[in-house]
Amino acid sequence: MQRILSGVRPTGGIHLGNYLGAIRNWVTMQHQAKESLFCIVDMHALTTLDASENLAENTYTIAAAYLSAGIDPDRSSIFAQSHVPAHTELSWIFSCITPLGWLNRMTQFKEKAGKHKDLACLGLYAYPVLMAADILLYKATHVPVGEDQKQHLELARDIAGAFNRRFGEDLFPIPEPMIFGTATRVMSLRDGTSKMSKSDISEYSRIELLDTADTVAQKIRKAKTDMEPLPDTFSGLEHRPEAQNLVNIYATLANMSPDAVCQEFAGENFSPFKHKLAELMAETIVPMGEKMRQYLSDKAELDRIMKKGAHRANELATAHMIDVRRAIGII
Ligand code: TYM
Repeated sequence: MQRILSGVRPTGGIHLGNYLGAIRNWVTMQHQAKESLFCIVDMHALTTLDASENLAENTYTIAAAYLSAGIDPDRSSIFAQSHVPAHTELSWIFSCITPLGWLNRMTQFKEKAGKHKDLACLGLYAYPVLMAADILLYKATHVPVGEDQKQHLELARDIAGAFNRRFGEDLFPIPEPMIFGTATRVMSLRDGTSKMSKSDISEYSRIELLDTADTVAQKIRKAKTDMEPLPDTFSGLEHRPEAQNLVNIYATLANMSPDAVCQEFAGENFSPFKHKLAELMAETIVPMGEKMRQYLSDKAELDRIMKKGAHRANELATAHMIDVRRAIGII
């Protein structure tokens, strides 16, 4: 792999889905790629920012999460999107070659804008174009994300192709989405048919990385399940979305296959399984939260790490933007 890039929005409540679906995979991939960049996409957070949120604190929290999960700042660049102004410049250029029809297909805009589409801001609509710029600015070849970002990645590929054709040069490599593992779509603990998300009003729907062991245990105890015992294979969980979700989470955290997890608990009800799952989280997720708190108590160190990351990111961005401007004819 030549160059990987990915990011998380600093919108508060970073959760198990973000970790298992994305960040955890980055930790292994940073050792396989020639170069890796992990961005805290604060400009994206602006699209849904509400007055109660503290963007600065949330930005530090995501940086702390990357580090606590095992992103090595000596190997990978960790930086805030807003510290590299070329993201927004390239985004504007892409806005001028992206047909509205492509954006009208984006399901996340429809979900986020809700019923009042006319009141949604322009930034929310243009969001996927900025995301394409995040990726292509660095000529990233591989983009590890959770399943929900697939459509945005397809758009980034289309935009890369459109630019290359329009200006007659293969300036941008077509980025490959990397969606892999047993937790590409972690579901809500309250409803196995909807995604675990930062914006769900119920805190019981998600495990947050900063949750204490007690909170985690309580959330797992209250997680929705059903009355049936666990079967001995994963395929036996058909039509039981909440059970499937918990088994997948267990499997990912324990580095087991979902079938092996079912075999271990076959014939039992959910109570011992949930007990073990809470223990597993106390060993894996809770210590990460503790490390995050340590990082968060030393903002100067986080600033130093993000400054170093932004320096490298700006170096690449500056070089690539020279090619982009030349290809377009901007003097
Ligand atoms: P965001 O901040 O919503 O989520 C960050 C990452 O976590 C993954 N994820 C999940 N994976 C599994 N199960 C879930 N329930 C779950 N919820 C979230 C997401 O797929 C993502 O990988 N648009 C992006 C941020 C972004 C970006 C980029 C990503 C901006 N520019 C460039 C990659 C490359 C987003 O909103 O992610």
